[in-house]
Amino acid sequence: MRSYHVTTFGCQMNEHDSERMKGMLESLGYTETDAVERAGLILFNTCSIREKADSRFVAHLRQAAAHKRRDPEVVIGVGGCWAQSVKDDVFRQFPFVDVAFGPGQVHKLAEFLTSDSLTAQGFFEFEGFTGHLPAKRGRAFQAWVQISVGCNMKCSYCIVPSTRGREVDRPLDELVAEVRAQVAEGVREVTLLGQNVNAYGRHVRDGGPAASFARLLAELDAIDGLDRIRYTSPHPQDMKEDVVVAHARLASVCPHMHLPLQSGSSRILKAMRRTYDRERFLDRVALIREHNPDIALTTDVIVGFPGETEADFEETLEVCEEVGFDGAFTFIYSPRRGTEAAAFAEDFVPHEVCVARMDRLVEVVQRRAAEQARRFVGRTLDVLVEGTSRTDPSRLRGRTGHNKVVNFAGLADPGDLVPVQITGATSQTLTGEMSLLARAAAG
Ligand code: 5AD
Ligand code: SF4
Repeated sequence: MRSYHVTTFGCQMNEHDSERMKGMLESLGYTETDAVERAGLILFNTCSIREKADSRFVAHLRQAAAHKRRDPEVVIGVGGCWAQSVKDDVFRQFPFVDVAFGPGQVHKLAEFLTSDSLTAQGFFEFEGFTGHLPAKRGRAFQAWVQISVGCNMKCSYCIVPSTRGREVDRPLDELVAEVRAQVAEGVREVTLLGQNVNAYGRHVRDGGPAASFARLLAELDAIDGLDRIRYTSPHPQDMKEDVVVAHARLASVCPHMHLPLQSGSSRILKAMRRTYDRERFLDRVALIREHNPDIALTTDVIVGFPGETEADFEETLEVCEEVGFDGAFTFIYSPRRGTEAAAFAEDFVPHEVCVARMDRLVEVVQRRAAEQARRFVGRTLDVLVEGTSRTDPSRLRGRTGHNKVVNFAGLADPGDLVPVQITGATSQTLTGEMSLLARAAAG
């Protein structure tokens, strides 16, 4: 029996792509193994968003090379954004790699494995949607849905437009059919994925009919049996009123939005080529909250973008203070090859300054997130059970519509949607108890 092991780095789009790689491999007769050292095919789905992502992967790759020295039959494959960013250089840097492919050519892996080729091969065209491949889902009740590939924005720090190419959207009817099929298989929650999801509909493949993200949400909401729709990530520039209103009107669209801020300084936003300024971002937040007073807002922030002064950074702190995000991913700027900002080397902010700013940012973010989370205490929220708590196996773990993790006492199975009374909150997680009524129904 041919066995494989996939290690995934990076974002949810990579998680999605890995599920499709696995689905494709299983259709070729491969079986998954948990143990890398027992796998005949060792695959890495890589990320290149920050330097740290690169170096983490290289350590794993060296381990795979050691297995291959013991068993020369082992095949090593490297897919994803890092592979795309270095292309054929991967074979010069790591001669033991047999096959490499970018995010647009995952399907070529099957071609390589079924051919008699003994030479290393690389596939780096922007060609297809991985969403067309069969999926092997991590959880039966949750599914990723790739609505588009690529990105037409030009954020000056970001490597993604070069690793995932120009934006192409999948036709709306195809997406609706895919989600219907997933729901028929038991999926209750979908997460729509794209580099800039709310630009969806303007770049439909093969000149197919234009659509809009709000319409996609409405059509998916109409599918019976689908409880939750999430999506990531939207761009503040394209966050229009129709999508904001969809959150308020469509029952299955979750009360959570991840809206990447990146910086609170209009000067830095301009250098980042984010196409909005501080006021416009705050305007969007006001509009979103006007229609959805209880929505959870999360964000991404970069500290130490080239040229960021103390005053710029303080503006970022002010915006985070003012908005009061429910959570934030915070990153130190990392220069990426081939990006516009990587050329601003003379303006790089010293690492110690970045670290000190990061500490101050995290303090504000966590304090505001903890304050926001207190609004849930005393309420009963629907929680989609994912499994047992990571720290206490006698308790359950799940997520609210607001995307808050809840650890709670109760009896339920993964995939159940149960009411949980929230009794405690920190900046990261909620605690609670399954409500008595639900326990009676389950028991
Ligand atoms: N350095 C640091 N953070 C980055 N991000 C993207 N590119 C970089 C970079 N070069 C962050 C952004 C983005 C998130 C996915 O990663 O905040 O929203
Ligand atoms: Fe995802 Fe960006 Fe990493 Fe590619 S580089 S895997 S798009 S986070």
